[in-house]
Amino acid sequence: MTRTTRTSLVSVFLLLAACDGSSSTPTTDASVATDAPPPATFAEQVELGAATYTAHCASCHGASGEGTATGPRVVGLAEGALPLEPREGAVRTTQFVTVADVAEFAVMAMPPTAPGSLSGEEYWAILAFALHANGIDLDRKLDAELAATLTIPR
Ligand code: HEC
Repeated sequence: MTRTTRTSLVSVFLLLAACDGSSSTPTTDASVATDAPPPATFAEQVELGAATYTAHCASCHGASGEGTATGPRVVGLAEGALPLEPREGAVRTTQFVTVADVAEFAVMAMPPTAPGSLSGEEYWAILAFALHANGIDLDRKLDAELAATLTIPR
């Protein structure tokens, strides 16, 4: 199970690397073309994730992840964020057991207008930011392997 999740996530990101921008022009994704080196620590991921979330996700999910009329809450597990089961009529069909499950859905479906349009580093950074916002800080950088071992506390 863990192995499958990990493998599929790796595939997702490999696919991402291969197909960035495929829906528009076949060039390198502009959102990746930043001078900043990739985050080396969880804290650096949180920082990048905050900025990336604000730019690409906050319009629907709220400035603090509290949700809006156009997107569900993604921060505040106690208030119903990231429920195990998809909501009634949701696009999502998978359960959110681990952080990797959430990452996989986000890459496949978010943002709705351009799924998979961010870099793998950016998606992990957003996930790190979401964990941090949910009160969870890690002692090392979040990646697919680590995410598959992190069960979302219920
Ligand atoms: C245009 C509005 C919009 C934007 C922008 C957007 N989302 Fe979403 N998001 C939604 C909607 C609507 C859903 C519910 C999808 C469903 O029916 O399963 C959703 C669901 C989610 C979920 C699953 C939540 C749950 O409870 O099932 C995650 C995680 C998520 N979005 C992350 C992101 C991230 C990360 C970004 C930025 C890269 C982003 N979203 C950008 C509208 C948006």
